[in-house]
Amino acid sequence: METFAQILVLWWVLLGSSMVSEGHRSALNGHNHTPSTHSKTTHDVTNFGAVGDGNTDDSKAFQSAWEAACKRKTNNAKVTVPSGKTFLVSPIQFEGPCTSNSITFEILGDIVAPPRSAWTKKSADEWLSFHRVDGLIVAGSGQGVIDGRGESWWTHGDDRTRPTALRFSHCNELQVRGLKHRNSQKNHVSINGCNGATISNLDIRAPAKSPNTDGIDISASSNLHIHNCLMATGDDCIAINGGTSNVDISNIACGPGHGISIGSLGTDGRHDEVEGISITNSIFTRTDNGVRIKTWQGGSGFARNITFSKITFVAANNPVIIDQYYCPHKKCANKTSAVKVSHVRYSGLHGTSICKNATINFSCSQTVPCTDIVVDDVDIESVYPNDSTTAHCINAHGTAAHALHPAMDCLRN
Ligand SMILES: *[C@@H]1O[C@H](CO)[C@@H](O)[C@H](O)[C@H]1NC(C)=O
Ligand SMILES: *[C@@H]1O[C@H](CO)[C@@H](O)[C@H](O)[C@H]1NC(C)=O
Ligand SMILES: *[C@@H]1O[C@H](CO)[C@@H](O)[C@H](O)[C@H]1NC(C)=O
Ligand SMILES: *[C@@H]1O[C@H](CO)[C@@H](O)[C@H](O)[C@H]1NC(C)=O
Ligand SMILES: *[C@@H]1O[C@H](CO)[C@@H](O)[C@H](O)[C@H]1NC(C)=O
Repeated sequence: METFAQILVLWWVLLGSSMVSEGHRSALNGHNHTPSTHSKTTHDVTNFGAVGDGNTDDSKAFQSAWEAACKRKTNNAKVTVPSGKTFLVSPIQFEGPCTSNSITFEILGDIVAPPRSAWTKKSADEWLSFHRVDGLIVAGSGQGVIDGRGESWWTHGDDRTRPTALRFSHCNELQVRGLKHRNSQKNHVSINGCNGATISNLDIRAPAKSPNTDGIDISASSNLHIHNCLMATGDDCIAINGGTSNVDISNIACGPGHGISIGSLGTDGRHDEVEGISITNSIFTRTDNGVRIKTWQGGSGFARNITFSKITFVAANNPVIIDQYYCPHKKCANKTSAVKVSHVRYSGLHGTSICKNATINFSCSQTVPCTDIVVDDVDIESVYPNDSTTAHCINAHGTAAHALHPAMDCLRN
């Protein structure tokens, strides 16, 4: 069952990707362009001096190709990273705004980061970064790999000096699809300050023990669609942080990893707001957490109107958790203010868990209760044949129906 579901998602990923490569050009360039117009607007990085031997630093060529495309006064400018080559690229920022109101960055070949020892700056926030580019399309055919060579970083402790592999900040109407991400230094993909994005057919992988290698990290963004992605990393598959609204996520295969998290919110007493999140049709295989909302004590704001539906768990730990006592590294005092969690719906959650108790764990603030929690059609059984699963609640209010396993007696009206 698990392999079937995973193969199914992999199939979605590959099918979607190959559709990207087949039907890409006409779909992306609109209906009013002939192939010759198209070729004139393509800026192949090898025409700007990129070598693609995996050793030569091709950053300057990438930068030149980007600038040429970004300055074109056409609406279908395109940078192409051709297949069959490996391009070594140092930390680089693709800056907008561009004159073209839609710009495509096509990744068919491989892009690799320099190993940690070759990074000249002591700390860098990102490796590949797009900033203030509206109407950006970053698309692959499912073949090109973006390899952060994170192995050389993971053993070096302090994650503040580790970069995000691919970052989009203030890019409205963004599309990202058909890429393979491997072994990021820290997060694989981060989306910050973007309004309107469709992210699909990504295949993101790093070892289960690689630190902080989130799949997709989202903050201060709205109107996002994320679907048909496979994520197996050492941290959250998707993390949704403050200032984010209207995100729909579907057909995700997650695991190993830490599941899909909303938060952590309210860090250092911050005011955070997250609302309108839907996660559906997804599978969590041997993840450390499944669907999680996590907030620090002492914060304010809200996490509300959140739906988790049609979720399958395969031997997940902590499959369903609201943790308002999030405090990973230090001892935290109990505080009276908290991010308010409300209108959270869990519907159609099935599968197995390895945790013997608190398979569903709603640990809400003592002072700010969770309200309007709805649990409907939940059957999560223990992987151990003789164990039953249990639910645990602190100050959680709402209703349960068709909650077979665990029984939801702890939820108050
Ligand atoms: C709840 O969120 C969904 C998106 O997941 C949105 O379509 C809907 O309008 C929101 N409802 C309310 C009452 O805010
Ligand atoms: C904080 O609150 C939690 C939840 O009620 C309780 O288990 C814990 O003992 C409290 N910690 C302190 C230090 O009071
Ligand atoms: C799990 O349940 C057992 C039996 O009910 C209990 O003794 C134990 O403390 C629970 N573990 C946790 C972490 O709450
Ligand atoms: C539920 O989650 C809270 C917060 O992470 C944790 O402290 C607690 O041990 C969990 N409860 C059980 C019974 O596992
Ligand atoms: C489960 O319970 C049955 C009946 O009590 C027992 O025969 C069996 O050994 C138990 N299995 C495990 C894995 O504990």
